Amino acid sequence: MEQMHPVLKEIMLSETEIDIICKKLGKEITTYYENKGLKGPLVLLGLLKGCVPFMANLMKHIIVPLTTEYMVVTSYGNDSVTNGAPQILLDVNQNIENCEVLVVEDIIDSGTTLDFVRNHLLNRGAVDVKIVTLLDKFERRTTIVDVDWVGTKIADEFLVGFGLDYAQRFRNLPYVASVDLNKFDKYNWDDDFKG
Ligand code: IMP
Ligand code: MG
Repeated sequence: MEQMHPVLKEIMLSETEIDIICKKLGKEITTYYENKGLKGPLVLLGLLKGCVPFMANLMKHIIVPLTTEYMVVTSYGNDSVTNGAPQILLDVNQNIENCEVLVVEDIIDSGTTLDFVRNHLLNRGAVDVKIVTLLDKFERRTTIVDVDWVGTKIADEFLVGFGLDYAQRFRNLPYVASVDLNKFDKYNWDDDFKG
């Protein structure tokens, strides 16, 4: 396997494990909406930028009719701690009145973002808003949110990869890894470009 970057600590979720999770979640979600009976396409709503690899993998396994939408909601600067007040930088384009919406998120931490997004979508007229997240940092929850599908629960550590970033780095890793924030802050990023 390729060498891990020096600021990374440990692989927490491998590419294979992620594939298994996406297949399982996709099946469960498909069964749920088939049994419920949709009246129109499901709106699969990804929260950018972190949702990209997860949503791409997951939606291959959701086999009910659907459309895709994206939102950009931010509550983080380049920091690892939430500042509490989510802001919408990009809203849903489509009219979602009377639509069933499934929000796709990379990780739930305090719960602030998903609580805010769910309320926003209900205010815009969605008939129902469900949530699927790849990772659940359950120990850190400060806002109670019903998460309908969780890929896996995970311990309280800062993670990067498979969409997750720290200061916008490492979203492209095919796995999820823990990061040494101390090393990260001291690292000379120019070293990455030295042959
Ligand atoms: P919440 O509002 O505190 O639940 O924050 C959720 C958002 O925080 C996620 O969409 C991520 O963008 C970000 N986040 C939380 N924990 C991590 C992490 O360990 N690594 C990278 N991003 C994280
Ligand atoms: Mg995010």
